[in-house]
Amino acid sequence: KAGALAEELEYNLYIVGGFVRDLLLGKANLDLDLVVEGDGIEFARRLNKELKGELDIYHEFGTAVLTLEDGMKLDVATTRVEYYSGIASLPEVELGCIQQDLFRRDFSINALAIQLNGHSFGQLVDYFNGREDLEQGVIRLLHNFSLYDDPTRIFRGLRFASRYGFKFEPRTKELIKQAVDLDVIEKLSNNRLFSKLQLGLQDKYPIKFINLLQEENILSYISPDIRWNEEKEKLATKVVDVLEWLKTLNLSFKFNEWVLYLMVLIWGMNHEQIKEFNQKFNLNKNLSYRLFFTLSFDSLSSRLKAAEDNSEIYYLLEGFAIEDLLLLLIKDFTLKDKVKLYLEELRWIDIKVSGEDIIDFGYKPGPFFQDALQAVKKAKLDGKIVNYQQEQRYLRD
Ligand code: CTP
Repeated sequence: KAGALAEELEYNLYIVGGFVRDLLLGKANLDLDLVVEGDGIEFARRLNKELKGELDIYHEFGTAVLTLEDGMKLDVATTRVEYYSGIASLPEVELGCIQQDLFRRDFSINALAIQLNGHSFGQLVDYFNGREDLEQGVIRLLHNFSLYDDPTRIFRGLRFASRYGFKFEPRTKELIKQAVDLDVIEKLSNNRLFSKLQLGLQDKYPIKFINLLQEENILSYISPDIRWNEEKEKLATKVVDVLEWLKTLNLSFKFNEWVLYLMVLIWGMNHEQIKEFNQKFNLNKNLSYRLFFTLSFDSLSSRLKAAEDNSEIYYLLEGFAIEDLLLLLIKDFTLKDKVKLYLEELRWIDIKVSGEDIIDFGYKPGPFFQDALQAVKKAKLDGKIVNYQQEQRYLRD
């Protein structure tokens, strides 16, 4: 439909960017970026009339996003040239043809397009040798100022290198080194810097991504207090094992895997350093607590090792987030049975007796209520009592 509409409007229509790259690599990519040589917004409006989705228009960028009923998203843009007025500033946009539109992009492997209209339907548009670079597994910048225009491209480059196991073409490697040495990363706001780190940690091979950050001397821009070494890399490789183990429990948890990698990454920082890190990136409470947990890790781990009674295990682990417990296992997998016991059984144990029962025994409410009920819970956790009657008896005694 899009191709026919483009013909009708006499526009050339292309699909560009990540979709084409991944198509040639034989990988799925559901992000569809269309560009038209013509009025992109008009094209998106007309296309939406036929597809009956939802349309969001961004006049200042000349782009539109079309969301279809099944959740699929189509980005539509007008071919354009971008001018950057300063390092890390937003681009000023001017209309251009497909070749210029592709040239403004970051890497040759992302500067591929496939035409979707007319006689050239299905034809690969490859002005910058992107296809060959894909075949050779090479990441190559299109122009010398690319990283000054947009320093986040450094992170994109590392992300693609880690995701596909690609190498940087020597000149590109040199350009990255130069840009880093000239502190371009400092031009990024802390928010953007953190979101680029997060994207890398969420990508397919977060450890490779961190290794590349280290190799390119970028970690210190994230925080001068981060230490990355073989020992920590080894720990990070355990994340996958622990997640596999978690699946065998048949419990479902909501948490973000990338946070585990972040915890390993900052592990070893002291309280003051973590506090600074949290403040610098304005991290939310939950994430801040996870990072602070790396401080209590050692003592919790040795106390859990020594714990024998179920109630001891319960009171030690109660209140920690699942990420914290997983980190415990990443460091010491021998604790898995205790963590499993806590997750599968202990944390669900509740008592049925309450303050009402104590009143029924003829007592007036007082602070000892809490202690008495706590004692019942402890006995129940340790399996000394199992049902309501036993709870009542225990409470009375
Ligand atoms: N692009 C760019 N510079 C950036 C961001 C994006 O040149 N800083 C271009 C690239 O050509 C990219 C396209 O815009 O292919 C679309 O960007 P995006 O959808 O963010 O990235 P993808 O390449 O699809 O990457 P991913 O698979 O990680 O989504």
